[in-house]
Amino acid sequence: MSSIATTPAASAVPARRPGEALHNFLLYAVVIAGAALTLGLMIYGANYYTLDQAHRVASPKHGYLKPSGVVGIRLGLLGVALFLGLFLYAIRKSWKWFSKVGNSRHWLNFHVILGVLAPVVITFHSSFKFRGLAGIAYWIMIAVALSGFIGRYIYAQIPRSLGAAEVSMKELRAESARLAERLKAQEVLAPEDFAALLRLPSPAEVQSMSSQEVLWLMLRFDLARRWGIAELRRKALRSFGGNAVFWGLVRSHHPQVESVIDCLNEEAYLNKKALFLSKAQELFQLWHVVHRPFSYSFVVLATIHIAVVLLLGYF
Ligand code: HEM
Repeated sequence: MSSIATTPAASAVPARRPGEALHNFLLYAVVIAGAALTLGLMIYGANYYTLDQAHRVASPKHGYLKPSGVVGIRLGLLGVALFLGLFLYAIRKSWKWFSKVGNSRHWLNFHVILGVLAPVVITFHSSFKFRGLAGIAYWIMIAVALSGFIGRYIYAQIPRSLGAAEVSMKELRAESARLAERLKAQEVLAPEDFAALLRLPSPAEVQSMSSQEVLWLMLRFDLARRWGIAELRRKALRSFGGNAVFWGLVRSHHPQVESVIDCLNEEAYLNKKALFLSKAQELFQLWHVVHRPFSYSFVVLATIHIAVVLLLGYF
């Protein structure tokens, strides 16, 4: 049985970009610190947060963990600081000189981490009681954070500018053709084994779909691709007498099998990306129309909440 070389995309070791090590270090530091804080609060606060309001007042931890308590108020302040950090991403996009500072991908990574951590910190600050105006602000914040995951997914599907989109489309097609040639040359799997994995609707069908249908379809294809790849890995390994780990969801140590699997995965991914490119761009614009006003209405409500707290003399 012959094999194929790994695809350039799969095998090339990317050159280290400047600032990458510092970015990774800071990102991991924030993730570890956030996880440690969350775990600590969960362990320390478990027997307080699970009490009802009447019993909380009698708890020795009330003075610490209530929203205006020693710890509670500091969590509120930390939440504000984290929100200021995550809004730097939006500010950076609209200020010309600021947009040249650092790398957009790095900024977005921090936006995402802070976008997850800030709601967690605010949840502990609220002591899991979501009432009144602050409660409305809380649920808007959660909706914005959840919608962020959809935005991040769509963001990954599209190149960053229109010019880049045209170049990218040509590159996608050329790379896809190269991969198709490689797949023809391999003998690990038969074409009928992976025909279903590479099957996609026609561009006309995609164009006639609504935004929600397209989003759902993109997600379905991505999930089906992962599972389809695992199935093919299992099949290929069987023919080489090897064993799949975790139903074939993780890479094996069989280079011949993995080079074909990489090639197939890349081909299915690129074909899907090229097919949905223009719809994904539309979808992303639409997503901004929802994410942005909700973010700003959250800011307005949170600011009112902070102003009321200040007026009531909690500081
Ligand atoms: C409550 C927390 C969050 C707030 C208040 C927030 C707020 C914002 C704001 C104001 C923008 C800029 C919108 C624009 O320029 O049109 C933005 C963009 C974005 N956010 Fe969030 N966000 C939050 C959480 C998240 C999370 C958790 C994720 C991902 C998991 C995320 C992903 C994104 C993405 C992908 C963009 C667009 C990037 C771009 O167009 O360049 N956000 N967010």
